[in-house]
Amino acid sequence: MVRIVEVGPRDGLQNEALPITTPVKAAFVAALVGAGLKEIEVSSFVSPKWVPQLGDAVELFEMLRVQFPVEPPYFSALVPNEKGLERAIPSGVKRIAVFTAASDQFTQKNINMGVDESLDVIATVVDAFRKAVPDGFVRGYVSTAFECPCAGKVPYADTARVAGILHKKIGVDEISLGDTIGVAVPAEVAELHDYVTADIPKKKIAWHFHDTRGTAIANVAKALDLGYEVFDSSAAGLGGCPYAPGAGGNLATEDLVYFLERSGIATGVDLAKLARASLPVLEALGRRPAARSQLAALAE
Ligand code: HMG
Ligand code: MG
Repeated sequence: MVRIVEVGPRDGLQNEALPITTPVKAAFVAALVGAGLKEIEVSSFVSPKWVPQLGDAVELFEMLRVQFPVEPPYFSALVPNEKGLERAIPSGVKRIAVFTAASDQFTQKNINMGVDESLDVIATVVDAFRKAVPDGFVRGYVSTAFECPCAGKVPYADTARVAGILHKKIGVDEISLGDTIGVAVPAEVAELHDYVTADIPKKKIAWHFHDTRGTAIANVAKALDLGYEVFDSSAAGLGGCPYAPGAGGNLATEDLVYFLERSGIATGVDLAKLARASLPVLEALGRRPAARSQLAALAE
């Protein structure tokens, strides 16, 4: 069964300079749930000095707890360090995402430390989270899985090494491989697959494609052929990473849902509702919808 991890409220907004209010964010998340999405990364407990847009994570989780008191969908958040965990746990967060990269230059820019140091911090965070939330879920991101905006092409062995440590040593539940600057093509997905599956079962791996150069859906198709079932995407194709210039354009959830449904793979997502879910956020940003399947669904 294919799973979609919606990252729009976090990855989609983290880059935006214009502040979006907490109620608009909560309404965005509620509209995504209403469209049928079941796993949503709603915010980050990172330093508000680094990502001011997501400084209201505590308030947002509080609002969502009121809106979804019983059996909420899976809401998750990024947690970079113990300080973030201290804010996340009282907010009732049961799913965290820790994050590093395959390239030292990238982690230096993104989290102010090298890859190995970040893995040490992650190990401490995951350990503390497991103790506090024994039934919790941990996702580990490996950014720059194919290429780094600073260091260029990343050796597959480097990506596989970091993913292997997250899997074997730290014991995360899922690893998301990020094509942070949207350069990969299907042949490269197949090559990276050969490296990572030497150590990690396929069912533990998710793919986080960016559509910067229009190759994301082709990469999803290749990953599906290879037997993967978990894909990240962002409603309206919002977002990118603040520390990866030019990384705009996560794979749009509308394009992913259209592609999967049309290929006979049920997603449980109502494309017409999904296409409307991000409209208030786009309006607040002063932007028009631009994702192709979103535009097509809005025109129907
Ligand atoms: P630092 O500046 O080295 O850390 O940042 P620090 O410990 O010196 O702290 C600086 C200040 O921030 C201090 O405050 C701390 O208390 C505070 P001051 O003493 O100056 O008043 N602070 C915090 N406050 C609240 N919550 C916290 C926290 N931590 C420190 N958790 C740090 C290191 C990791 C904190 C910082 O670099 C950071 O937050 N980075 C996050 C950057 C980010 O969110 N990037 C985007 C996510 S990754 C991504 O998008 C890629 C992905 O989508 C996949 C892909 O596409 O590849 C996942
Ligand atoms: Mg991303």
